[in-house]
Amino acid sequence: KKVVYSGIQPSGLLTLGNYIGALSNFRELQEEYNCLYCIVDMHAITVAQEPKDLRKNTLDILSLYLAAGLDPEKSIIYIQSHVPAHAELAWILNTITSVGQLQRMTQFKDKSKRSKEVLAGILNYPVLMAADILLYQSSFVPVGEDQRQHIELTRDIAQRFNSRYSETFVIPEILVSKVGAKIMSLQDPTIKMSKSDPDKNSYILILDSEDETRKKIKRAVTDSIGEINYSDDQLAIKNLIDIYTAFSGKTSEEVVDYYKDLGYGVFKEDLGEVVVEGLRPIRERFKEIRSDGEYLEKVYREGAEKASYLANKTLRKVYRKMGFIAK
Ligand code: TYM
Repeated sequence: KKVVYSGIQPSGLLTLGNYIGALSNFRELQEEYNCLYCIVDMHAITVAQEPKDLRKNTLDILSLYLAAGLDPEKSIIYIQSHVPAHAELAWILNTITSVGQLQRMTQFKDKSKRSKEVLAGILNYPVLMAADILLYQSSFVPVGEDQRQHIELTRDIAQRFNSRYSETFVIPEILVSKVGAKIMSLQDPTIKMSKSDPDKNSYILILDSEDETRKKIKRAVTDSIGEINYSDDQLAIKNLIDIYTAFSGKTSEEVVDYYKDLGYGVFKEDLGEVVVEGLRPIRERFKEIRSDGEYLEKVYREGAEKASYLANKTLRKVYRKMGFIAK
């Protein structure tokens, strides 16, 4: 079986974008592939984290993984910092990665623009991500569109290592969902939905209350055209249709046909219900799972053990090929 690998940062709670673009696709993949789903706490610290928040957020994401149907009997679910091989391989990969290429990453450019002092961790972030993926000989990486450039970099790094030291890494491919690979802000459809947005109305959190969810959808910006079309001239409506499609399984044509003459108000009202219904089972299961600390600990311990075994196998191979003396 081929390997699927993905990770989510425990930096606050997940948005509808994280859910539609990534998490909602994870469950099905378990049936066909050997999946690893990681909580990337070492990536999260590239932005200053309050230790108690990081602790809480990590267990929240773990609980959301389980609430969304990830099954520790089928997949390896673990916390990145529990497997030191990630940091070790990242160091090795740093020695064959060009600074210029890292500086050209759009996420690096965005993040460094916004901060006074640019920390090395932000620059090297994608190298750690490459290590995550390559350690497990992953073939597919299900992520949102915003991660495409990082996956391309991962491929470059893997190819560079393979051609220098002989075939070692599988070259991974990105797996993006057909709809919703980039969910946009509800307040500005030209920027992606993100939990770092200061305007809380711009995103829906998976764990928002049902009322908040409905309200945020009601408040979502639209346009003055007044007719529902799936078009780049109506980015706000297009984004809402994508969300509807992702939860209902209907196509965008079906949604447009049905709502075309009903108006924005009715459409938003129904969308609110579709999202609330779609998230309800996850929201309910989350509460149950999150309160069972013993179970969570069992899951991440076992996950770390299984992941370490696989990661260390790759790491030993890498060390040997590079000429490190085995102990
Ligand atoms: P992160 O934690 O920012 O986001 C988690 C996942 O959510 C997707 N996503 C979106 N999809 C659609 N619309 C949006 N508005 C939206 N916002 C976020 C992201 O693409 C991602 O799939 N670097 C990664 C974490 C990571 C990783 C990895 C992923 C670290 N190592 C190895 C895969 C494999 C990140 O910051 O995701």
